[in-house]
Amino acid sequence: MKTLVAFGTKYGSTEKVALEITSVLQQKGHQADMLDLRDRKHIELEHYDLVVIGSGIEYGSWSKEALCFLDRNSRTLNKKKLAMFACCGDLMFDPIRVDEYRQKYLQDVADKYGLHPIDIGLFGGVLDFSKYGFLVKDILSVRNTGKQGIGEKDIDPNKLYDLRDWSAIRKWASDLGGVL
Ligand SMILES: Cc1cc2nc3c(=O)[nH]c(=O)nc-3n(C[C@H](O)[C@H](O)[C@H](O)COP(=O)(O)O)c2cc1C
Repeated sequence: MKTLVAFGTKYGSTEKVALEITSVLQQKGHQADMLDLRDRKHIELEHYDLVVIGSGIEYGSWSKEALCFLDRNSRTLNKKKLAMFACCGDLMFDPIRVDEYRQKYLQDVADKYGLHPIDIGLFGGVLDFSKYGFLVKDILSVRNTGKQGIGEKDIDPNKLYDLRDWSAIRKWASDLGGVL
């Protein structure tokens, strides 16, 4: 059984999640390849039984490369087993609203492209201010300004936030491996 784990990332945290998912699937005996969607490599989706696609969330959206991939391949993806995941910051600060974020960052994306994933996984991401430019730092540090999205959270720019729950990520991947 062959799996493709494709991901959209800007700052790299989603790549590490994709790597973990890939290695769990491989440990379960599946052949699994990874694809960084920024590479714009042509890939023969026909060769895969399961496609896992995920993205980091920036300003409420998947990366443009990941959305482009969904748009271009939606018909083929619907002939495969498909699973979708996202890494976001909102979960760190409002874990109680997990259902809302799952809807917004996963189900709405699937619906928009007419996709029918067998599973969706929402994970916390990373906020690492050492990687951001001046403008992004400024936007993310804004406190209680009433701005939409992550800008309205109470974020300390001197802290590294890493809310990736590796055991939840591994369990999700392991359950996926079980359906193949
Ligand atoms: C500029 C910027 C905007 C962000 N916007 C959102 C957002 O709207 N909602 C959210 O939940 N997380 C948001 N985040 C948090 C990211 O989803 C989180 O950092 C994620 O791990 C990024 O994935 P990446 O490292 O693969 O790019 C934002 C982060 C940055 C740097």
